[in-house]
Amino acid sequence: MTALSGKRILLVIGGGIAAYKSLDLIRRLRERGASVRCILTNGAQAFITPLAASALTGQRSHTDLFDREDEADIGHIKLARDADLIVVAPATANLMAKMAGGHADDLASTVLLATTLPILIAPAMNVRMWLHPATQRNLKTLQADGVHVVGPNDGAMAEAEFGPGRMAEPLEIAAAVERLVAPSGPLAGKHVIVTSGPTHEPIDPVRYIANRSSGKQGHAIARAAAEAGARVTLISGPVTLPDPPGITTVHVESAREMLQAVEQALPADVGIFAAAVADWRVANAGEQKIKKKDGALPNLSLTENPDILATIARRTENRPPLMVGFAAETEHVIEHAKQKLARKGCDLIVANDVSAQTGVMGGDSNTVHLVSTSDVETWPTLSKTDVAKKLVERLGAMIEGGTP
Ligand code: CTP
Repeated sequence: MTALSGKRILLVIGGGIAAYKSLDLIRRLRERGASVRCILTNGAQAFITPLAASALTGQRSHTDLFDREDEADIGHIKLARDADLIVVAPATANLMAKMAGGHADDLASTVLLATTLPILIAPAMNVRMWLHPATQRNLKTLQADGVHVVGPNDGAMAEAEFGPGRMAEPLEIAAAVERLVAPSGPLAGKHVIVTSGPTHEPIDPVRYIANRSSGKQGHAIARAAAEAGARVTLISGPVTLPDPPGITTVHVESAREMLQAVEQALPADVGIFAAAVADWRVANAGEQKIKKKDGALPNLSLTENPDILATIARRTENRPPLMVGFAAETEHVIEHAKQKLARKGCDLIVANDVSAQTGVMGGDSNTVHLVSTSDVETWPTLSKTDVAKKLVERLGAMIEGGTP
């Protein structure tokens, strides 16, 4: 049994110089046990031939929407159904634009529009095309549509330029395929919801209340959970971090939006609530920008935000069986964390000291204490990435051991 035994991949090859790497991708997928069928766009055929793809897949490659033989043989609707995953590699700027716009003017775009299968794209294009607002807009649309993305990587490009736009390497794409269709690891098959970052609570259309959370710890946890085989929904407040690859990221601003996004993402097996949610919002937020008036100060009245963690952890229906909260403290860290564990009704609290001198808020490392009803465990100072990995390992072990 290999990682992709019995899995069927439909590989759509777009027209870019990276198309030659897709031939290697076919080999990588096949050596993992997958069967691969190819569609080549017209552009792709300027770089590689359908014959080369067929020789490597052992199956006929498809190129034309109105090919009589193709339609009699398999047909584009069947192509769009008979697979476990569609991989688009290279996904050119044009192909991404067509997918985002719902165009169907050739076999590849028609199949991509007609399918309900999961789709993984490996973008590849010139750095300026990648960074162009239109491509970035299309990328966001595709991600919102649930399309998974691997790469692109930074590197030297065919046009002697440097920057993001190089297609992910075939081995990286094959690993992303494995994560999607045959997840393995301690959280394989689990749905994990992670909240991350701060929330912004509006004072008026231009001003807001916020905190210093960077989202680094929450995003690292989302990545670690995905690497451990989980399907991850990351609900992120406003951060400057990129969306982690292979993860469904939902962007929100306020605590109330975050709660709503969590509700929509349920059910889940694990909830990890790392966001630094603002405790209060302005009850009388201005609909228009509040103007200065002869030195009179605006009278802002605050009201309490919903406690997202407590709301979800305290309910009996649709509660993820394993709920993890964070405790951001500046004093009496463990004592406060124990109180929070009891008050919020979660199964585990990751407590950290966020006093200014620790540099935790916005920094790259963290010293945490794992607080459960029975135990307190202090970890050495680690990078946020390592805290995330260790935490995910622990959660995997807890699920395996049937706790809670
Ligand atoms: N949390 C939440 N919703 C809120 C406030 C907090 O989901 N409105 C979650 C956080 O994501 C974290 C945990 O609750 O997992 C604890 O957050 P923290 O800011 O440490 O505690 P608070 O509940 O805000 O309590 P206090 O401000 O009194 O320390």
